[in-house]
Amino acid sequence: MGDFEVLERDGLARIARLSTPHGRIETPALLPVVHPDPARQPVAPSEFRDRLGLRALITSAYITWRTPPLRTEAERRGIHGLVRFDGPVMTDSGAFQQHAYGSVEVSPSEILEFQQRIGSDIATVLDVFTEPEAPHDVAASALRETRERARSARTARTGLLAVPVQGGTFPDLRSESARSASELGDVLAVGGVVPLLEQYRFVELARVLAAVRPHLTAGSAVHLFGTGHPMTFAFAALFGVDLIDSSAYHKFARRGSLLFPEGTVAIDDLREEICHCYLCREEPLREVARRPPEERERRIAHHNLLVSAEEMARVRQAIREGTLWELAERRATAHPALRAGLAEVYRHSEAFLPTEPESRRAFRAVVAESLGRPAAVRFARRLAEFVADESRREPIPRVGLTPEFLGRLPLADRSGSPIRWSTDTPFGPVPLELTEVYPVGPFLGPAEFERPLGRRSPSELSRELEERSELDVDLEHDWSDEWTRLQVEALLGFQYGREVARRLVPAVRGERSRRTGRLRRLTAEEGPAFVVGDDGVPRPTYRGGLRLLPCLPGRRGRVVVGDDAVPFVRAGRSLFARFVVEADASLVPDSSALLVDRNDELLGVGRLVLAPHEMRQLHRGVAVRVTSHPGASEPPEPLGPEGAGPEAPGADGDVRPPERSFIPSRR
Ligand code: GUN
Ligand code: ZN
Repeated sequence: MGDFEVLERDGLARIARLSTPHGRIETPALLPVVHPDPARQPVAPSEFRDRLGLRALITSAYITWRTPPLRTEAERRGIHGLVRFDGPVMTDSGAFQQHAYGSVEVSPSEILEFQQRIGSDIATVLDVFTEPEAPHDVAASALRETRERARSARTARTGLLAVPVQGGTFPDLRSESARSASELGDVLAVGGVVPLLEQYRFVELARVLAAVRPHLTAGSAVHLFGTGHPMTFAFAALFGVDLIDSSAYHKFARRGSLLFPEGTVAIDDLREEICHCYLCREEPLREVARRPPEERERRIAHHNLLVSAEEMARVRQAIREGTLWELAERRATAHPALRAGLAEVYRHSEAFLPTEPESRRAFRAVVAESLGRPAAVRFARRLAEFVADESRREPIPRVGLTPEFLGRLPLADRSGSPIRWSTDTPFGPVPLELTEVYPVGPFLGPAEFERPLGRRSPSELSRELEERSELDVDLEHDWSDEWTRLQVEALLGFQYGREVARRLVPAVRGERSRRTGRLRRLTAEEGPAFVVGDDGVPRPTYRGGLRLLPCLPGRRGRVVVGDDAVPFVRAGRSLFARFVVEADASLVPDSSALLVDRNDELLGVGRLVLAPHEMRQLHRGVAVRVTSHPGASEPPEPLGPEGAGPEAPGADGDVRPPERSFIPSRR
């Protein structure tokens, strides 16, 4: 199979590298659809490579094959010589022409052999395009035919092979198709969706992708045929689409339409100069509008491609930041149909949960549906387990929900009976001990910025709570040790279960930041055992790992390291996917895990880059980054006096920050 490596990720989306004979493709990537005849290309490939940074393209092997002069030229000079591009070239097989014209006159083996002969970097199987209206039996038999063709193609093809996923709008067929494509393809190309995209049927597109995505192997790149409009890029990336092709840049240009991530604008309607990109500085769009038709089409196409390339870069930036959900939600406001499609996405959290990271640096609500993101679904499930047999007071309103007040609430009533508080949050009532945990702690919605919420003084707040609770409330006193103990137990309990927490709690002491009052570290006799980030997640140090290990039964919380990698992990080097023997399936990306050898000896503690199932499927790249190992130097004194609190750089105990953390501190 192909050479595919995941570098960074946000949920299902990946920053990855696909190696081809003509260079690497960094994903998610936009592949412009170019006509094999250079005379019919509105923007020359060398130009979009040099000026827009687009380093790969897709062209039609079928059109090349059925046009004699192009065929001869391609056979003589190769496809790269024909289209005049020396970067990665993917070729399509003609299935789209079957959709457009009803049939193609080439055989599956002939067009595959042709792609091999002309030196395509990624050849595509000639699939049977299944229309969304096809009944189940038609879609099923088309699928069987596509699968047979893919099997023969795999045997015949030596280079990279794109295997289409069909199945119409039937989830069972789509899943089946995704599974069989995964056994054969270096690129798994979701097809048959052009009508859905053209008719803005994004709800059905979301259903198709939700049925397909969990069954695609993480070891291959995912392509989506036909998503040309930049407003859909973030939506596609959310489902882990790595390669997007665009013919829209040219198709829309023919009818004078300008593409933007916010929607489409007719060039003839422009009354203002809304763009100042380098093309518009050369020649403003309103002047482009008055050019002769051919020149006008060429310029608009170039502009559309520029805007598309820019949006793709924004998608990659969002993946690196962990803000792809926010970008997709903002883009969905471009059109109500896309908004409906996004609303459908939240109904398929099962497709997202296995790769949903433990936490992100922030949770910014963009639309009402934001509260249904997979992160919120996971939190609700864990919470339901955590509070299963508990009774709590009526939740207190989310006023002054800054950590410095929490520990000052009374934990017993006048008769000495314990009181457990919870608070109203956008995610429902949450135990007060857990309000620093992701996604509650880092949550930002409009309410966070409305006065006077959160702006009350401690004495105002004390009075208000006294009235509501009939308790003595004095929020001006200092931290109570009882509260700190309660919070330590809750954070560990939420992460590892109450039983594990009860065993760990007597051994550790919670330490707070002097500046913010937040719980920052759980320290044991021998030194820091857990560090609590801004996400409220307690992350073990190597020493904490030694304490945790006997509390977690079986392989829980563990990644088992193959013998060859043991000395490297012990020395703090990253664990590569191919050396993973086994990983606890309940771990997710960015989870902290105990790295053990086959005899369950602790080698180090690390953060997952890949989900456990992806470690099996990927043959290259880092699976876990080591954050703490026995060789790490002694930690500096915890909680130094002046501002040298645990937030100070390098003061995180013996935990080395991972090269990429979802939780940088809010400095
Ligand atoms: N281009 C647009 N849709 C498709 C499809 O379903 N299959 C192939 N091979 N190419 C396409
Ligand atoms: Zn412009």
